Amino acid sequence: MPELLLVKNLRKYFPRGRKLLRAVDNVSFSIDPGETLGLVGESGSGKSTLGRTVLRLLEPNDGEIIFDGIDIRRLKGDDLRQIRMFMQIIFQDPLASLNPHMTIGQAIEDPLIIHNIGTKEQRRRAVMELLDIVGIGREFIDSFPHEFSGGQQQRVGIARALALNPKFIVCDEPVSSLDVSIGAQIVSLLYELKRQFKLSYLFISHDLAVVKYLSDKVAVMYLGTFVELAPKEELYGNPLHPYTRALLASVPKMPKNGGRQRKFPALKGEIPSSVDLPSGCRFQSRCEYVMDICRREEPIFREVSPGHFVSCHLV
Ligand SMILES: Nc1ncnc2c1ncn2[C@@H]1O[C@H](COP(=O)(O)OP(=O)(O)OP(=O)(O)O)[C@@H](O)[C@H]1O
Ligand SMILES: [Mg+2]
Repeated sequence: MPELLLVKNLRKYFPRGRKLLRAVDNVSFSIDPGETLGLVGESGSGKSTLGRTVLRLLEPNDGEIIFDGIDIRRLKGDDLRQIRMFMQIIFQDPLASLNPHMTIGQAIEDPLIIHNIGTKEQRRRAVMELLDIVGIGREFIDSFPHEFSGGQQQRVGIARALALNPKFIVCDEPVSSLDVSIGAQIVSLLYELKRQFKLSYLFISHDLAVVKYLSDKVAVMYLGTFVELAPKEELYGNPLHPYTRALLASVPKMPKNGGRQRKFPALKGEIPSSVDLPSGCRFQSRCEYVMDICRREEPIFREVSPGHFVSCHLV
């Protein structure tokens, strides 16, 4: 089956003074139809930037993005708008992503209006169906976002993302701002939707347990680049990169109920800046196995077993 999304050597840099901050630095991956790629990594590693750049909400500096066989970096204007129907995003903070002056119904109908889809009557029906799908009572159609709880707001965000029948959704920490139990309900909803509509996700999260549950394969990002990518069972069962191992080791065995999700505890050693990356491996300053070669040569991200990629001189 041809992949739905193919990303090759993607780069996104931000100017920082007279230098460049390499937020996404040579990232390659693919996602098949109906497949979910989980994306984990510490704060600032470039996960959101990657998600936005793939959707061309940010312009890449370099690399290829092929969606459904189309090179979307070449698209402009109407063509880009067309393809955007099939690529959506769900944000961490649902309230901030909703217009406070629009009712729930208007918010969900909005993408249909923008894309000129259906009559008013047809759109109203579509909105009702979307409310059903995401588990919001139809009677709330004229409510405003601030009248809703965080979980309900996120359901609206999901309904909005679904309105145009997308094939691919970037989920950027969609449950990180929610209490654990509410977040778990949203995670099950996302799981159900992916099955029902054969959706592909790029699922960004700090929560390794959630990522394990939702993903088919998982990528680990460090300072703008992938250090490891593997099928889920392989990544959790046989992690090869010292950074991946450290992340997995830091997962608390018993998650505390009711609390917010924890970010990974800091590993030892200093994190270099994405503006001044060291020569060699970018994980060297925190790696307990560091060798001479790690300071000299940047390890190549290579496939060590089917679908299992890692960039480490140890492997
Ligand atoms: N619009 C921007 N302009 C300049 N720098 C940016 C911009 N967006 C992100 N960055 C920088 O790019 C790097 C990656 O940020 P990004 O938000 O993608 O990380 P993240 O992995 O999503 O982090 P978090 O887990 O905190 O959400 C950071 O150093 C950040 O400061
Ligand atoms: Mg982010």
